[in-house]
Amino acid sequence: MSAVDALEIELARRPCRWLVTGAAGFIGSHLVERLLRLGQEVVGLDNFATGKPENLLDIQSCVDASHWQRFTFVEADICEFEACRQAAEGVDYVLHQAALGSVPRSLEDPISSNRANIDGFLNMLVAARDARVKRFVYAASSSTYGDHPGLPKVEDQIGRPLSPYAVTKYVNELYADVFARSYGLECIGLRYFNVFGPRQDPQGAYAAVIPRWIEALCRGETARINGDGETSRDFCYIENTVQANLLAATSNNADACNTVYNVAVGDRTSLNDLFGTIRDLLSRERPELAKVAAQYGDFRPGDVRHSQADISRARDLLGYAPTHTVAQGLAQTCAWFLGRQNKD
Ligand SMILES: NC(=O)c1ccc[n+]([C@@H]2O[C@H](COP(=O)([O-])OP(=O)(O)OC[C@H]3O[C@@H](n4cnc5c(N)ncnc54)[C@H](O)[C@@H]3O)[C@@H](O)[C@H]2O)c1
Repeated sequence: MSAVDALEIELARRPCRWLVTGAAGFIGSHLVERLLRLGQEVVGLDNFATGKPENLLDIQSCVDASHWQRFTFVEADICEFEACRQAAEGVDYVLHQAALGSVPRSLEDPISSNRANIDGFLNMLVAARDARVKRFVYAASSSTYGDHPGLPKVEDQIGRPLSPYAVTKYVNELYADVFARSYGLECIGLRYFNVFGPRQDPQGAYAAVIPRWIEALCRGETARINGDGETSRDFCYIENTVQANLLAATSNNADACNTVYNVAVGDRTSLNDLFGTIRDLLSRERPELAKVAAQYGDFRPGDVRHSQADISRARDLLGYAPTHTVAQGLAQTCAWFLGRQNKD
C-alpha cells in the first residue's frame, strides 16, 4: 500500500479540521476538494485577488452534498491578522496557499507581492502558532533556486533570487524555520515546480503557460513561446501536488518536519515539446488544430533557463510518489478544458 493510500484510510477514520488558504485558487481548490472527499472538515479562506467563486462552485458540483456541508468559506485577506486568527481557531492542519503568484507580476508590482506573500505569510504563521495547530504546510517555490546553475535542483543548494516573487518565497522559508526553532511550530515548505491542471486560470497577463496555450488553441489562436522554446521546466500535475500536501501535513516521521521539499515529477520538458503534446492532444478532438505552429517572442526577464527537481528527499522522508507523468496530466487537463468549452 502506498503512503498516500495509508494516510487516506487513516484520515477517513479520524476526520480532522483543516484550514486551506487560497481556497478559491487553482491549487487551493484541489486541496479543498480532496479533503472534503476524504470526509474532512475544511475552512477555506480567500480574498478572490486571483481566485474565483466559480472554483468553489466547481468543488461543490464534484463532491457529495454531505461532504460539502463540512466546508466553511471565509472571504478575507491574509493581510488582516484578526481574520487569520479567527480562521485558524480549532484547526489541526494549515495548508497555506494564498499568495500573489507570478514572477512578472512581482517585477511590475513588488509592493503588492511583498504584502500578500510576506506580511500575509507572517500573519498566518502567528495565527497558526497561537492556535497551536499540529502542522503548518506552506506553498514554497522552485523560484528560490534563482541563479544556481545545478541540475537537478537539490533542496540545500540555492542561488540568488531572480525576482521579487522569489525573494518573498525564500523569506517564507526563513520565517518558517525561525518559527519552528523559536516557538516549536511544526512547519513544512513545499517547493512547487510549475504545477498544472484543471481550474488553473488561463486569463490575464500573468496566466501560466499550459492553461493559456490550451485556451488560445481552442479559440483558434496560436500559442506564443517566450524565447526559442528550449527553455525547460519540471511540470507537475496537480494530483501529485495534492498528494505531497497530504503527506507533509500528516507524516509521523520526526525527521520529515521543519524542512522544505521539492514537489515535482523529476523530469524536464521543453516548451517546444510541451506545445507539441498539447497540440496533439487537442487535435484528437479538434483535427483542425493539428497543423497550428507556435509563435516565438522574446525571452521573459527573471525566467530561469532550465528547471528540474531532484525529488528524492520527498520520496525518502514523506513517501511521495508522483502518480501522474506530464503526459498523463496534460491529457486530463486538455480533456477538462475541452469539456468546459463544450459546456459554454
Ligand atoms: N502554480 C504553480 O505552478 C506554483 C508554483 C510555485 C508556487 N506556487 C504557489 O502556490 C500557491 C497557490 O498558487 P496557485 O497556482 O493556486 O495560484 P492562484 O492564484 O490560483 O491561487 C492563489 C490564491 O490565493 C488568493 N490570495 C492571494 N492573495 C490573498 C490575500 N492577500 N488574502 C487571501 N487570499 C489571497 C487568491 O485569490 C487565489 O485564490 C501560491 O502560494 C503560489 O505562489 C504555485
